[in-house]
Amino acid sequence: SLEQSLRPQNLNQYIGQDKVKENLEVFIKAARLRQETLDHVLLYGPPGLGKTTLAAIIANEMGVNIRTTAGPAIERPGDLAAILTALEPGDVLFIDEIHRLPRTIEEVLYPAMEDFCLDIVIGKGPSARSVRLDLPPFTLVGATTRAGSLSAPLRDRFGVLSRLEYYNESQLKEIVTRTADVLDTKIEAKAAKEIARRSRGTPRIANRLLRRVRDFAQVKGNGVVDEGQAKEALELLQVDRLGLDHIDHKLLRGIIEKFRGGPVGLETISATIGEEAHTIEDVYEPYLLQIGFLQRTPRGRIVTDLVYRHFQMELPSQ
Ligand code: ADE
Repeated sequence: SLEQSLRPQNLNQYIGQDKVKENLEVFIKAARLRQETLDHVLLYGPPGLGKTTLAAIIANEMGVNIRTTAGPAIERPGDLAAILTALEPGDVLFIDEIHRLPRTIEEVLYPAMEDFCLDIVIGKGPSARSVRLDLPPFTLVGATTRAGSLSAPLRDRFGVLSRLEYYNESQLKEIVTRTADVLDTKIEAKAAKEIARRSRGTPRIANRLLRRVRDFAQVKGNGVVDEGQAKEALELLQVDRLGLDHIDHKLLRGIIEKFRGGPVGLETISATIGEEAHTIEDVYEPYLLQIGFLQRTPRGRIVTDLVYRHFQMELPSQ
């Protein structure tokens, strides 16, 4: 499908994350040479940077199937057992949001990861007994936005830990250009650059903005996306020069207007602007921290002078 070909299929097509790619390339080659299963891989970093895509690429490069699930979807040990026993030797099991796996499931996962076996309790009460079940060897690829909220024993069972970084403008421009090509859309280099600049370092955002800009160009122009159309469309989408959207604005302005720039606690911000604390913490804050607009202190979040300058607001008097 189109959606499929939009995602790069192998490491060569995958743009950016050079360190992660270089390492994975070696580990994949080595495992293949030894005809072994690849060690378990933990991918962590902000959302939208390509963790799911990388998991699929790992499976593809290893020449195995991928089974995909997510932490919150596995509620009982039996759910995990059903998935694990259905794997074929060498398969990749991808668990997204692995930090949201219930603790009771984590404990089933340890022997599965370490020894490829499951300890299952059969029956109840005095007649209950434990049975050890062998599993096919597999590679667990876990993805999380917060490596810090994985339990230490789970984290320790991954042989490969890879942190994904925000993309720079030229990498995002390359991704936008590639996606436009897959979508059969003509785009000027300057338009691709403008979208890249406003994508908060995140391919998922870049590709989403490209689709919306392309809609504008198709309806209002001649179908070729040029710089003027890109800028106009991005204005209409309420994406500012730095790529901050209306929720970023609500967050930053909220801290300034209601809390004199902070410090203010996450829960308080959450209640004030009506966005979930988790979403603020996992989706919005990482980029604002990265560009130095927000700081975390023991007493809460504060906005920096850069934010006042960005909004052309006067700094508060001390
Ligand atoms: N699409 C989304 N992320 C990508 C990446 N890192 N490389 C190429 N295409 C992508």
